[in-house]
Amino acid sequence: MLKSRDLFMISFASVFGVLLAATYLADRFITQLPEDAKIVPIDLDLDFKLVAEAYASVVAPRDGKFGLGRFATKNELAAWDKDISPDGTGLPVGSGDAIDGEEIFSERCAFCHGDFAEGLDNWPELAGGLDTLADEDPVKTVGSYWPYLSTTWDYVKRSMPFGYAQSLTDDEVYATVAYILYSNDLIDEDFVLSNESFFDVEMPNANGFIIDDRKISESHFWNKKVCMTDCKNDVKITMRAAVLDVTPEDEEF
Ligand code: HEC
Repeated sequence: MLKSRDLFMISFASVFGVLLAATYLADRFITQLPEDAKIVPIDLDLDFKLVAEAYASVVAPRDGKFGLGRFATKNELAAWDKDISPDGTGLPVGSGDAIDGEEIFSERCAFCHGDFAEGLDNWPELAGGLDTLADEDPVKTVGSYWPYLSTTWDYVKRSMPFGYAQSLTDDEVYATVAYILYSNDLIDEDFVLSNESFFDVEMPNANGFIIDDRKISESHFWNKKVCMTDCKNDVKITMRAAVLDVTPEDEEF
C-alpha cells in the first residue's frame, strides 16, 4: 500500500508536470511580435482590403447599391442547378437495372431502409403502402405516394445515402431507383431504367395530386367590388363562439 507521503509526492509531481507543459506550450503558441516587424501595406493585404471595401460599401452605398458579393461562377451554378423535373429536364444519360441496384442497395441503403426497402426501425420505408392513402394511418412511400419518378431520382442523387450524399454515379442512381421500383412491384427485375425508358414506368399515385384551382373554381366567392363605405349600418351579433361550442373537446387530443 502506498503511504500518504508517496501519494503526496505523486500528485505533486503530476501537478508540476501539467504546469510545466502548460508554460512550455503557452510560450510556443503565443507569438511575440518581433521588434523589427514588417508592416504590410494595406494594398497587399487582400483579406483586409475585402473587409475594408465591404465595410466601406455598407457605410456608403454607391448608386443605391451596396456593392457586395459577386456573380456566381459557372461551376458554382452547375453544383446547385441539378434538379430533375417531372418532364425529364435535367435527367442525365445513363441506365441501371434492379439486379445491379439490389447489390448497391444492400451495401449502401439497406442498413437504414431494410433489405427490401421496407424500412428499418424508424428509418423511412421506401416500398409498400399501396392503397393505404385513405386510411387513418397511411403508409406513404415512393410506390404508394410519390407522383413523379423524377423526384425519386433527384432525391436519391442529391441526398442519399444519408450522411454520404452525392456519392453515387448516375448509373448507380438509375440502378438503385430501379431496385426501389422493383421492391414496389412496379417493374420486372430485368427492366432497364434509363433516361429513355424513364417514362415507361407508371407511378400508382401519378394522378393523386391536383392543381390548386380555387382561384377559378371558387371565383364566385370572391366579390371583386369590395364595399368600403356605407356598407352596413348595424352589425348584429347573434351568437357567441363559446356558446356555440365550436371547439371540439376530444379527450384524445
Ligand atoms: C444512415 C441511414 C440512411 C441511409 C444509409 C440511406 N438513407 Fe435514405 N433516408 C434516410 C433518412 C433519415 C431519410 C428521411 C430524410 C428526411 O425526411 O429528411 C431518408 C429518405 C430517403 C428517401 C425518401 C423517402 C420518403 O418517402 O420521404 C429515399 C427515396 C431514400 N432515402 C433512398 C435511399 C437510397 C437509395 C439509399 C442508398 C443509396 C439511402 N436512402 C441510404 C436515411 C438513410
